[in-house]
Amino acid sequence: MSFSRARLLLSSATRGLTASSCSCLLSRSAQHHPRFYPSAMAARPLSSLATSESGTQPGAPLCAANISIDKTPMPKEKLQPTKLVFGHTFTDHMVQIPWNDTDGWLPPMILPYQNLSLDPATCVFHYAFECFEGMKAYKDSNGKIRLFRPDKNMDRMSKTAARICLPTFDHDELIKIIGELVKLDSDWIPSERGYSLYLRPTLIGTQASLGVGPPKSALLYVIMSPVGPYYPTGFKAVRLEATDYAIRAWPKGVGDRKLGANYAPGILPQRMAASRGFQQNLWLFGDEGYVTEVGTMNAFFVFQLPNGKFELVTAPLDGTILEGVTRDSILALARERFDEDKWIISERKFTIQEVADHARAGTLVEAFGSGTAAVVSPIKEISWRDKPIYVPLQPGKETGRVAEQMAQWIAEIQYGEVEHPWSVLLN
Ligand SMILES: Cc1ncc(COP(=O)(O)O)c(C=O)c1O
Repeated sequence: MSFSRARLLLSSATRGLTASSCSCLLSRSAQHHPRFYPSAMAARPLSSLATSESGTQPGAPLCAANISIDKTPMPKEKLQPTKLVFGHTFTDHMVQIPWNDTDGWLPPMILPYQNLSLDPATCVFHYAFECFEGMKAYKDSNGKIRLFRPDKNMDRMSKTAARICLPTFDHDELIKIIGELVKLDSDWIPSERGYSLYLRPTLIGTQASLGVGPPKSALLYVIMSPVGPYYPTGFKAVRLEATDYAIRAWPKGVGDRKLGANYAPGILPQRMAASRGFQQNLWLFGDEGYVTEVGTMNAFFVFQLPNGKFELVTAPLDGTILEGVTRDSILALARERFDEDKWIISERKFTIQEVADHARAGTLVEAFGSGTAAVVSPIKEISWRDKPIYVPLQPGKETGRVAEQMAQWIAEIQYGEVEHPWSVLLN
């Protein structure tokens, strides 16, 4: 990666946006701290490592005001929106921001989308120093571009980075940098409802050596992919296999962090479930069979209780569950908008036996997964110990009422049809 590359300095508008607030205006000595994690923190549990540690990193903090833009001379041909396949098409540009443990964050660059060239000894290939985020940008009916709760993704990425000794960063600065990339490639966001631009911020260790230790250099990059609606012809409820022969995450592990290393081990169980006709795994934990997540989504169930109330329940954030942005949004909307005389909104442990008991008693009302890609994914059947648990669906319907309502409320916010602080305008 060459820093002598000719750069177009970013417009004064962007500099105005960032210069006054950017902590990169601090003197180098004020920024320099001798240790990655001060010893006072050593006794704290790993789960408490948070973004505040970014202030203890050596070198310069991440600073959007220093961005340079090198536009591609050869924009790519765009696919018809209806031909888009998730994650197969990428826009014209990408962000690259190198970091090293002497200088800190180097100036962010927007460059033509391109291959990375890395030494075969680079630590990301050997010890999985990699974390990523999944978030989306939307075009509203006035052509304005919106991000959905980007602060949540930045917070999760920073916490994940800290867990594997990759550098952390100022959330607002990275949101500004991502915003510049999205605006530059905004022609790639199809304007039809249901379409969006999937953003993939990624952070890798780039130190080229086989010693196992904290990387002395890293690269944060962001690529973007236009995506179509998850359900182009309407919801399609899925069949799951309750999985206890493989474990996705465990207490004091890293299941609550968005590490690339968490995903590859889930593919073989998913392929095994698929070979038996199930689309996804319902990940169980422990001898009790606690329900944790579904595939790469958080899991929600609706039970009717003996007192006639309904319970919307999802597993608690106990370290084994990814802190889904959609999960958090569904819980917040349910707490705010559901009738509290009729609903209980729970984050608690529950077992597959409890789900089976409700199904047998006729009080299992609904089940669905939640995540950025689909927002909600209704569930119609769970196979557990080779016996089916059926989740009721109204005749001719592929979703229950809660999932449908949540999909509608969240889309209204994402597409700016309802003004809401979760939707962040870029232009
Ligand atoms: C394991 C896992 N759980 C849950 C989610 C849902 O998270 P979010 O709602 O932030 O997309 C994801 C998606 O990123 C995931 O990979």
